Amino acid sequence: MALKTTAEVCGMGHSMKRKEDPRFIRGQGHYVDDIKLPGMVHLDIVRSPYAHAKITAIHTEKALAIPGVLAVITGKTLEQFNLHWMPTLMSDTQMVLPVEKVMYQAQEVAAVIATDRYIAADGVEAVEVEYEPLPVVVDPFKALEPGAPVLRTDKKDKKDNHIFHWEAGDRAGTDRAFAEADVKVKQDIYIPRIHVASIETCGCVADFDRAMGHLTVYMTTQAPHAIRTVFALVAGHVGLSEEKIRIVSPDIGGGFGGKVPVYPGYVIAVAASVVLGKPVKWIEDRMENLQADSFARDYHMTAELAAKRDGTMTALRIKTLADHGYADAAANPSKFPAGLFSICTGSYDLKHAFTEVDAAYTNKPPGGIAYRCSFRVTEAVHAIERITDVLAQELEMDPAELRLKNFIQPEQFPYKSALGWEYDSGDYPAALALAMKTIGYDELRREQAEKRRRGELMGIGISSFTEIVGAGPSKDFDILGIKMFDSAELRIHPTGKVIARFGTKSQGQGHETTYAQIVAEELGIPAAHVQVEEGDTDTAPYGLGTYASRSTPTSGAACAVAARKIREKAKKIAAYLLEASEDDLEWETGKFFVKGAPQKAKTIQEIAFAAYTNHPPGMEAGLEAVDYYDPPNLTFPFGSYICVVDIDRGTGAVKIRRFLAVDDCGNIINPMIVDGQIHGGLTMGMAPALLEEISYDENGNISGGSFMDYLVPTAMETPNWETAKTVTPSPHHPFGAKGVGESATVGAPPAIANAVVDALAHLGVRHIDIPITPEKVWDILKANGVAE
Ligand code: CDP
Repeated sequence: MALKTTAEVCGMGHSMKRKEDPRFIRGQGHYVDDIKLPGMVHLDIVRSPYAHAKITAIHTEKALAIPGVLAVITGKTLEQFNLHWMPTLMSDTQMVLPVEKVMYQAQEVAAVIATDRYIAADGVEAVEVEYEPLPVVVDPFKALEPGAPVLRTDKKDKKDNHIFHWEAGDRAGTDRAFAEADVKVKQDIYIPRIHVASIETCGCVADFDRAMGHLTVYMTTQAPHAIRTVFALVAGHVGLSEEKIRIVSPDIGGGFGGKVPVYPGYVIAVAASVVLGKPVKWIEDRMENLQADSFARDYHMTAELAAKRDGTMTALRIKTLADHGYADAAANPSKFPAGLFSICTGSYDLKHAFTEVDAAYTNKPPGGIAYRCSFRVTEAVHAIERITDVLAQELEMDPAELRLKNFIQPEQFPYKSALGWEYDSGDYPAALALAMKTIGYDELRREQAEKRRRGELMGIGISSFTEIVGAGPSKDFDILGIKMFDSAELRIHPTGKVIARFGTKSQGQGHETTYAQIVAEELGIPAAHVQVEEGDTDTAPYGLGTYASRSTPTSGAACAVAARKIREKAKKIAAYLLEASEDDLEWETGKFFVKGAPQKAKTIQEIAFAAYTNHPPGMEAGLEAVDYYDPPNLTFPFGSYICVVDIDRGTGAVKIRRFLAVDDCGNIINPMIVDGQIHGGLTMGMAPALLEEISYDENGNISGGSFMDYLVPTAMETPNWETAKTVTPSPHHPFGAKGVGESATVGAPPAIANAVVDALAHLGVRHIDIPITPEKVWDILKANGVAE
């Protein structure tokens, strides 16, 4: 895209350095744990050692006897106010604190409030809880077997552990296409439970002002407005009215979907502040964060693909069992219990498709959040990109050739998928062709063949994914009934400087920079002169927050539309100042001028000043606009990734030698930030492919509940990411952009898994579940007699 603005104005396409970084790199970010209020006290939580147990008694006397311990809150305390249960974002219910039984290991059991964090921790040690263990259900398949212990005994009519059944597509047509197919492949694919593991854990400072009945909560949330509304709806009966609730989301050290839900800790801190009349701080530690906050993935999928002998794909069928833990606390739009899993037809022109998802309760923490992905897109992409490679293997066809044969073609857009989505734009062959050329695909294949002859293990994996981001059109997308529009409010000061506020909330994505660049592009006011604010419900316009790569498609769009509204008014003021007709004026970034007389011009700064000092008679003073943007469609970013791995026959270790990501997110606001998003996303995509997993033994004991065994990647494991771009603008977005924040997390895992399987394909290996650990590979090498 050609640059329309100078480096001084720094509109779209400039790699402007991030405006937020001077405070971050100096250690002057302002996070929740930096907040210290006068009289503030601290909360710590007693957690269950059992995965399923009746609570027969909680003894608080010893804890209360510790000097500095102010209170111990239990489920019984909250029950008096009917606040011991709360709704989840999927309209299920979840305990704040238990009254009868615990449902997973590390569940909150009671809270100790003390004058000091260490005293609160001592108090936690001193609380004595008596448990009576109950049978534990860990495996979701067993959870659905007849006779399995029913976990949700709180639900009077619930006789099993089934949560929901959801399906999309044409079952009969797909079955017929399978019956008629020349070739069929079928593969069980599991994406394990993982965790966002953001650098900053969750926490809050709840500050209830008894005199004014006003509650301020500083909290780690990606969706402050929605949280305020939920608080008002859930606690309205105890006097918390929405106008008296202020949620402030300060700097956030990574959210990735994990900071969308309301966790019990937030609610307990609010209750404690109301009870004590003091500000209460709750900051979870790393183990609490990993063990109790919402998990991601945990999808057991069976994918099937049908094709003609020449490789033309004809039908896709995917059946999934989702393990939601003890409550369905996914952060999905209401109408989509399985998120946007129905993007699983991917980049391929599949005429027939059917998918169904069932969900089960187990004795694990609740969740099902969209970890850096647009509501189950990662799962969908993993399934289609893996089963495509299984088909390539079955057909003995090159996986690149198979993809190129089946891609939706550029002229087919807008493209209606078999599962009902209208893809806005794309050029999949161009992205894969660029990836193959840049990485030297043919040469790599030759090298692989040679190495294979020598007994060396090298693999090449491709993933040509399609994302679906920007939720969403309000006709289909809401969370707890609140429509998923988003907002921007721009106010131009007399000297031509801007305050811009949004309903979204950055957690590291650089919104302070990119939103300023959108204003700069639209109005010609230097991005340096645009102050961006998000996250304070008292000042920002209402919006649903930042997750699922929705900020650019929604608030970014709102920003451009609001700026254009301002330009309309600015034109009227310019016409007045220039004594010209509006029809005779033309806009050139930063100024209006009279057609044919470019010297007769008024800059946006001059117009802004006039808006407060010399505006036309009869016109309202000021220069500002608000927009609540309801996108007409989602945006469909895409990419083609190629990964090259070498496998050590002595250890089973997988080394990523090269990884090239070709991404297309339409028009780019800030190329440097987009590259940063891709680099981070690739690292977060590599993590579950090779390292990360949370699992449970048959008693519900967690493994992967601390950084001792939850292996987040470090610089040691992270290869040198190579990136390239194609640009296919979104036809419906005001400036042709698509979201990008999550593309790489979505696209990377199957590229890596496909590369490892490709390295071992000649041994008959067809699939390996992620994470592909050295142990798993080593077992395969040993079984095939090729281990060194
Ligand atoms: O919702 P979230 O901010 O996580 O995702 P996003 O809208 O995909 O944006 C991530 C970052 O990339 C933001 O700073 C965007 O403004 C930037 N971006 C961009 O510069 N150009 C695009 N076409 C898309 C995103």
